[in-house]
Amino acid sequence: MTQDKRLTTTAGAPISDNQNALSAGPRGPLLMQDYQLLEKLAHQNRERIPERTVHAKGWGAYGTFTVTNDITQYSRAKIFEAVGKTTDLVARFSTVAGEQGAADAERDVRGFAVKFYTEEGNWDMVGNNTPVFFIRDPYKFPDFIHTQKRHPRTNLRSATAMWDFWSLSPESLHQVTILMSDRGLPTDVRHINGYGSHTYSFINARGERFWVKFHFKTMQGHRHWTNEQAQEVVGRTRESTQEDLYSAIDTGNFPKWRLCIQVMPELDAEKTPYNPFDLTKVWPHADYPLIEVGIMELNRNPENYFAEIEQVAFSPSNVVPGIGFSPDKMLQARLFSYADAHRYRLGTHYEALPVNAPKCPVHHYHKDGPMRFFANNPQPDAYYEPNSFGGPKEDPEVAEPPLRISGNADRFDHRAGNDDYKQPGDLFRLMTSEQQGRLMDNIAAAMEGVPVDIIKRQIVHFYRADAAYGEGLAHRMGVDMTDIVQYSSAE
Ligand code: HEM
Repeated sequence: MTQDKRLTTTAGAPISDNQNALSAGPRGPLLMQDYQLLEKLAHQNRERIPERTVHAKGWGAYGTFTVTNDITQYSRAKIFEAVGKTTDLVARFSTVAGEQGAADAERDVRGFAVKFYTEEGNWDMVGNNTPVFFIRDPYKFPDFIHTQKRHPRTNLRSATAMWDFWSLSPESLHQVTILMSDRGLPTDVRHINGYGSHTYSFINARGERFWVKFHFKTMQGHRHWTNEQAQEVVGRTRESTQEDLYSAIDTGNFPKWRLCIQVMPELDAEKTPYNPFDLTKVWPHADYPLIEVGIMELNRNPENYFAEIEQVAFSPSNVVPGIGFSPDKMLQARLFSYADAHRYRLGTHYEALPVNAPKCPVHHYHKDGPMRFFANNPQPDAYYEPNSFGGPKEDPEVAEPPLRISGNADRFDHRAGNDDYKQPGDLFRLMTSEQQGRLMDNIAAAMEGVPVDIIKRQIVHFYRADAAYGEGLAHRMGVDMTDIVQYSSAE
């Protein structure tokens, strides 16, 4: 047999029999020296890694980004350098709450994460299909996620926990309204928008800073399922999104998104009536219109799902010169959380894995640990910094301009003076009456079995956003409107 067809051990030695274990006599027992059997069993025991603590169920593919409009006046990032320039990328979409084996057609926010392999490092845009989020202070994130995951005793998801938390956190109303609307149950991920959601910053070649929001507009249009349709789909297949994305790309039907930005001059942030770094708010498009930047296309399926999609590691901390952070408290916490999760989930040198490795030179002085399979820097004596042996050095040219901040260090009440009702109310008023009806039906269904005090507390929030929103829910839940009106005006 030719060597390239021969089955081998992990050490490369040829295997003579892969069907029959080595035993003492035909009936056994087995011999300890059958290291090939031991190797097989030991590897099987190590085939699973911790699933992502959130966004465990996901679907991914490779693609390209092509610049269609010159935005160099806002950002010096190489990816935007010239119209027509293309950059390779990998994208992963996900649901938030379900485990790795969860059904795809569930009502949930969809994750929308893209890693752009730029010449000056990887830029990760780790967003969702919603422009806002449930909370604005990261201190509350683990509590919020606990309400989305399983109850410790019943091991079931708990509608009571969800509505208890949301009704005690009025800042969630905007995102809850989106989640319960048509957009909360997309048919697949080709038919969703993506949003960076947070405010990020752009720095141009003159060292000027702008605040920016990212929008990926689906070019396939939006498609949704009703709860009833989704139930029928899940009864047929739990993998509807995986099937849709994989087969679309496999048959050359490549999905595309138009990347657009909203840009705010740095000093405007001191003038807007809302906090532009509040993740529960959108920026009005009338004040900050969308500017097209380019087209993202997905055009290649991964060869190995585990190696390339399960092991892909996205982090909002992965920015490149010309793209930076903002004071958004949620974003600041995420800058810590993701790389920490990756070191736990994948191991110290996870960025050397092919799907995570930048496609530009990488020079750092981090040393050993799991997965240290990459070579030394070309200068073997330069293994610390500073050194006299020609090792890599910092480049002051990529420094950002200083950021002006002010105020005392304190635990500021993030709800003080914040209007949690106007934007969700505007969104409700923007919907057709059919859309409003479906939104309220979905909420009523999701509230089934929740204690009445919690339901009333939540209906007060709907009522404050729009009287018809509150009344519609009170009617559906059999709650007396006078209770709601009294409670709402008592506070
Ligand atoms: C995944 C933390 C808010 C989008 C994750 C993971 C963690 C995490 C630990 C798993 C990472 C991994 O194992 O690879 C947090 C914290 C948040 C937060 C602490 C708030 C303080 C958000 C927000 C968005 C978002 C606001 C969207 C705007 C995502 C996405 C993924 C993810 C898309 C999956 C990435 C992938 O496909 O690998 N988050 N998250 N998260 N998060 Fe968040």
